[in-house]
Amino acid sequence: MVNRISGGILLTLEGPDGAGKSTQARLLAERIGATGREVVLTREPGGTPMGEAVRGVLLAAAGEARDPLTDAFLFNAARHELVIDVIRRALERGGIVVCDRFTDSTLAYQGYGAGVPLDTLRALANIATDGLRPDRTILFDLPAEAGLRRRTEGEQSDVNRFESADQHGLAFHERVRAGYLDLAATEPDRWRMIDADRPASDVAGDAWNAVSDLFD
Ligand code: TYD
Repeated sequence: MVNRISGGILLTLEGPDGAGKSTQARLLAERIGATGREVVLTREPGGTPMGEAVRGVLLAAAGEARDPLTDAFLFNAARHELVIDVIRRALERGGIVVCDRFTDSTLAYQGYGAGVPLDTLRALANIATDGLRPDRTILFDLPAEAGLRRRTEGEQSDVNRFESADQHGLAFHERVRAGYLDLAATEPDRWRMIDADRPASDVAGDAWNAVSDLFD
């Protein structure tokens, strides 16, 4: 296990906006729970009281554009809290952590998307997580346009700062998606890629298949 904490397993879910990750995270956690293991479902940004407060600051659609390095610090501040308060404790108990977004989101969005150097972001994430790395990461892939359409066809009031077209347009989301594909290609042992542009039940089946070997 690469997370270096005996017994526990850290699973992270990644992908562009509108890929249906939150639903999939819940379904996957339920499926894993059926094996009898303790499951902790959490998300980024968020998962702790401080992290949820930072989430409000980060995702508020209104307001001025912010420097992406500032965003990266905020995401990593929330991440540090989540790792020490929730993830590490669960792994030490031998639990399975399903985390909806983790360090790779910062690489994809603030790095590939917004142009912060990947080395800088890797160094920040390393400090924030004390080197904790996921055992498996699922990429819920779909074209940027399809993802944005799914999000904006939903409740408009739900659109966050990264989905709002005036601050982050289609080209930004295309770079994010390409970034994810690049990250997955360079670390194929950790990543599993799923076509998310299909019915949720099909995607859920593939998500379970992408991690089930870890429970043998
Ligand atoms: P959320 O509503 O959770 O979106 P989704 O359901 O698509 O996961 O909002 C999280 C947003 O924050 C999403 O647009 C991606 C962005 N984000 C980053 O830009 N960097 C990060 O490190 C993380 C964790 C998220």
